Amino acid sequence: MDTQTSDIKASALELIGNTPLVALDRLHPGPGRLLAKCEFMNPGASLKDRSSLYMLRRAREEGKLNPGGPVVELTSGNQGCGLAVVCAVLGHPLTITMPAGNSIQRAIHMEALGAQCVRVPQVDGIYGSVTNADVEAATAEALTLVDRLGAYYVNQLANESNSLAHYETTGPEIWRQTGGRVDGFVAVVGTGGSFAGTSKYLKECNPSVVTIVVEPSGSEPIRGEPITKPRHLLQGSGYGVVPPLLQPQYMDDTMAVTDEEAVEYKRLLGEKEGLFVGYTSGANAAAAVRLLRSGRLPPDAWVVTMLNDSGLKYTPTVMNYESNS
Ligand SMILES: Cc1ncc(COP(=O)(O)O)c(C=O)c1O
Repeated sequence: MDTQTSDIKASALELIGNTPLVALDRLHPGPGRLLAKCEFMNPGASLKDRSSLYMLRRAREEGKLNPGGPVVELTSGNQGCGLAVVCAVLGHPLTITMPAGNSIQRAIHMEALGAQCVRVPQVDGIYGSVTNADVEAATAEALTLVDRLGAYYVNQLANESNSLAHYETTGPEIWRQTGGRVDGFVAVVGTGGSFAGTSKYLKECNPSVVTIVVEPSGSEPIRGEPITKPRHLLQGSGYGVVPPLLQPQYMDDTMAVTDEEAVEYKRLLGEKEGLFVGYTSGANAAAAVRLLRSGRLPPDAWVVTMLNDSGLKYTPTVMNYESNS
């Protein structure tokens, strides 16, 4: 009886994290091995569930968020879906502001979980492609709502529990799942929380793990380049600014990935691996394959990357945009 009941999760919160690591041997037969964390298997269908749980749990522990208290956040959508999972279970009303260029599926998803999503008109982006100015407009709207509702503002961009979530969960999971055999870690950066926390943990385990930030081609502030292409397909990353949570001491290099490469690897992940994922996952796979082919690592190296969210979070019109680009 006990063994049976121990398989029952107490709530959706216990479905967050401990995602499988899958070998992408069909997409990349070698040299080396490409391994990917299945973050789309979190209950909110993205990596952002981890930071959602950590940030709200900490706010409650510190008395910044009272039981039943309102929560507000700005998001590209995935943080909103993650917060909606946590707020549904813990009983907090959640209001989200999201640039209208982020896919409508994300708004539908979080509203199905009881959140309210305010879609903020874009300043200079287009649907499927969100710029820093669009994010700033959604931030201003979020701050107005915080005042009006007397809400707790999550502030994922500056909240250290965001990167702590990955330092305490994603990094240790990767280390355990590979038996400590990680030669490289590759990840796109939005807030930088996932890259910063994971690479810090992996570098503490083994300083010679090569850690690479992936940026959209033409929007590479972390590389120190001027922004020449603020519009790109990597929703949730590449906002044209260096995020405060990024810790450059745990980053060895950056790589730029074009929209075309992200689309191509998103397609390959589906057709060769049976994994329907989003654009940043495609970008991660493209960069990881480039690293494995570069000769920078031993021929039998293992590189880990993240499949950040589900392909179900994107709209067919974005695919039209791809075929027109
Ligand atoms: C699809 C997707 N990929 C990558 C990221 C980047 O994650 P982080 O904010 O931890 O840098 C995000 C963030 O929202 C995202 O939504």
